[in-house]
Amino acid sequence: MKTKHMVVIGDAFKMAELDDESIQLVVTSPPYFNVKDYGTENIGSIDSYASYLKSLRQVFEECYRVLAKGRYACINISDIISDRRKYPLHAHCISILQRCGFKYVDNIIWKKPSGRKNGNCSGALKRFGLLIQHPYPMYYYPNNVYEFILVFRKGDFDYKTLTHDVKEDSKINIRYAKLHWNTDIWEMMPETRKGHPAMFPEQLPEALIRLYTYKGEAVLDPFLGSGTTCAVAKRLDRSSVGYEINEAYLDLIKRKTGYHEDPHSFEIIIKKPRGEMI
Ligand SMILES: C[S@@+](CC[C@H](N)C(=O)[O-])C[C@H]1O[C@@H](n2cnc3c(N)ncnc32)[C@H](O)[C@@H]1O
Repeated sequence: MKTKHMVVIGDAFKMAELDDESIQLVVTSPPYFNVKDYGTENIGSIDSYASYLKSLRQVFEECYRVLAKGRYACINISDIISDRRKYPLHAHCISILQRCGFKYVDNIIWKKPSGRKNGNCSGALKRFGLLIQHPYPMYYYPNNVYEFILVFRKGDFDYKTLTHDVKEDSKINIRYAKLHWNTDIWEMMPETRKGHPAMFPEQLPEALIRLYTYKGEAVLDPFLGSGTTCAVAKRLDRSSVGYEINEAYLDLIKRKTGYHEDPHSFEIIIKKPRGEMI
């Protein structure tokens, strides 16, 4: 199936390239507050937690605007530890998305096999060490081995609009679904490839795209990073749109999405920081 893919190098505060209700699924992993270095000024490098949350809200308001009625938005996030303080990012995100108008639907736990590096906090797997050093009460901090996939919906969907053929063409393999998706705890290995500090594994957008879209529909990732969401959408016969503020990731995005093999399926827009095209 011929699909189209738009990559915008620019910030996602204003997604002027997208019409209202033109997207059928949002899949994203926002920049973590004050933890990762994404190589340029961005939401993750904002110093104040309140300003960081305000910026996330602006992007999620845009996601709400462009998402079609009855469709889903899935946010991969985890609480973070910065300066010895734990920030309940997932709880704040739930509240922000609800205030944008989304209905909170599910909280899927992405469990990583024990001992695997947690993508967002360097000390996440060393916390239990304190109890080993001090085997007494009140020295207990468990290692962090999971992230959240928060699932939201924009109102109700009219299932009668789907034809029999459209449904059959995107039918879900129930044997696979029973094995991997029957509960709200999904086990997936973290991404280990290099090139970007916080990639999610392809399995994550793949599950969400298969479970929440039909072939030919459009998936948006407002924080595209290395291009994982667009790459998977393309492989699954869905169109895609991705915003990424750091132009340094464009080469990686092109390689990951197969741009060089099929450039005609892509539109690449490079904006100046203020949203002006170059
Ligand atoms: C957690 S990473 C996403 C990684 C992605 N899921 C992947 O698999 O590669 C978040 C990304 O958001 C980008 N970002 C931060 N602020 C942004 C903004 N205002 N608009 C668009 N992208 C932004 C960062 O540069 C970073 O690459």
